[in-house]
Amino acid sequence: MRILLLTHAFNSLTQRLFAELTASGHELSIEFDIADSVAEEAGDLYRPDLIVAPYLRRAIPESIWRTHVCLIVHPGIVGDRGPSALDWAIQEDERDWGVTVLQAEAEMDAGSIWAEETFVMRRATKASLYRNEVTEAACRAVLKAVERFASGNFVPTPLARANGRGRLRPLMKQSDRAIDWQRDDTATVLRKLAAGDGVPGVADHLFGESCHLHDGHAEATIRGGQPGDVIGRRETALLRATVDGAVWIGHVRCGKGDLPIKLPATLACAEQASGVPEFALNGWWAASGPTWQDIAYREADGVGFLHFDFYNGAMGTQQCRRLLAAYRWALTRPTRVVVLMGGADFWSNGIHLNLIEAAVSPADESSANIEAIDDLAEAIIRSESHLTVAALPGNCGAGGCFLARAADLVWARSGIVLNPHYKNMGNLYGSEYWTYLLPPRVGEEGARALMRHRLPMLAGEALTSGFIDACLAPEPAAFRVEVARRASALADGDDFAAKLAAKRARRAQDEAAKPLAQYRAEELTQMRRNFYGFDPSYHVARYHFVRKSPQSWTPRHLARHRNPGWKVPA
Ligand code: COA
Repeated sequence: MRILLLTHAFNSLTQRLFAELTASGHELSIEFDIADSVAEEAGDLYRPDLIVAPYLRRAIPESIWRTHVCLIVHPGIVGDRGPSALDWAIQEDERDWGVTVLQAEAEMDAGSIWAEETFVMRRATKASLYRNEVTEAACRAVLKAVERFASGNFVPTPLARANGRGRLRPLMKQSDRAIDWQRDDTATVLRKLAAGDGVPGVADHLFGESCHLHDGHAEATIRGGQPGDVIGRRETALLRATVDGAVWIGHVRCGKGDLPIKLPATLACAEQASGVPEFALNGWWAASGPTWQDIAYREADGVGFLHFDFYNGAMGTQQCRRLLAAYRWALTRPTRVVVLMGGADFWSNGIHLNLIEAAVSPADESSANIEAIDDLAEAIIRSESHLTVAALPGNCGAGGCFLARAADLVWARSGIVLNPHYKNMGNLYGSEYWTYLLPPRVGEEGARALMRHRLPMLAGEALTSGFIDACLAPEPAAFRVEVARRASALADGDDFAAKLAAKRARRAQDEAAKPLAQYRAEELTQMRRNFYGFDPSYHVARYHFVRKSPQSWTPRHLARHRNPGWKVPA
């Protein structure tokens, strides 16, 4: 079928559906939901058999749903309606939740039901649930609904007869999210923070200034102060007392500007934060109880596992330097294999665009950040004492994909989406030694195509293309078990020494053919043009990315019906 995805943005769920439906043999095109007239034009140009709306912020115009069957993905159980579905589900501590695919009609979220899927709620942020459970359930439900539509004989169930326990709920307001520090216990505070994360956060105050709080974490042992007081800091996070304990706040949006951007808490309140006690962790070992720890190391069966759970997968200059220190330390351990585990939701999304945007000189900070991430990539490439694995439990984008490729092996969880290209960020050339790492995996033409097409890739496709080495279990816990089993087999293998020797020989050969330093210098020459050159595209793209400016057009590589050669189907 010809399917048009009508969506607010090409977000992770839309990317996943795009890739899954394409892999199922359908022809896809995308239009951003910018205005009624633009959506109508897309319908006229593409003449889709079906419109699927994975992520909308407003109702589908009548002119569209009267002429096309439009299937809406709603992140709620049957009968649930309204724009804050997941927010309410988290705040009200629902045990099970779901995704419903319903047909667009006059009343929002009240159309007939084509498919539904449910899942068990995990204690996690809204964004994390969306990227994992909701995305998995939405994929299953949309594929089922599309199949049902294609069969031509399925009759969707009217909402009134669907018998769901969901109900219409209003937009969640900041007054519903507000934390009462004198009353709310730690679990309630964390639930409120989770329901607001990543967007819009919880409106509150820090050091007397109004701000939005994001990225909350439990603390098991540190106590003190009055509820609401900031009682400590660690790296980028601040610790606040609650009535029965304390919570870490990782990120905040502060400031009086029109569009304050989300920043690490200790940076956003740098002056005041410097005066509170520091609770540094002793080294890189994973703490035994709940706390906030962005880099954590553990060891088993001759394998070192290095976790780096950086918020949103963004890796700033300091984070890259700290991770490099942790990685170098991990190589000194009596192990044979180091597995780079990334974070649960993202392995890495490359340089930290928010920190760059907030810097006095974004060009200088871009430059410092790319050097720091390159240093890390180089250390991974040059590791001679260990075999290295990048294990990707979550999505990976831009420079993060090539940082992963710097390891000897890349294993991905089935279901994740990779975006191994840079051009979407204002034609950024990219570094992280991609010019060294990519062509041997996918060929020269393959590398050019990947960079040019700028499309997301499912883990399965990445395996077929040669970009990754294995696609493992889709379920996160099963994925971790499989990674540990494979890594320990690698460390234990009779051929370990031979593999390490082959790796050293290959590196020496590569270095003789063209030194790593030369790849880096060539990439950075191009990057300097992006940062300091006369074309400001990268700075403009970053400005809009971090502020989430509404889209004003759909890029041509997504809207195939707007390509010059497109012929309107008969
Ligand atoms: N720096 C800072 N923040 C980043 C980031 C980066 N490199 N990559 C993602 N984020 C943030 C987003 O702003 C968003 O923030 P929010 O919590 O305030 O909503 C969050 O991470 C999730 O990103 P989103 O775009 O909603 O996730 P997605 O899964 O839909 O898309 C990507 C994933 C990778 C395609 C997309 O985030 C992206 O293009 N990131 C930029 C990658 C890049 O160009 N890096 C720099 C070059 S190395």
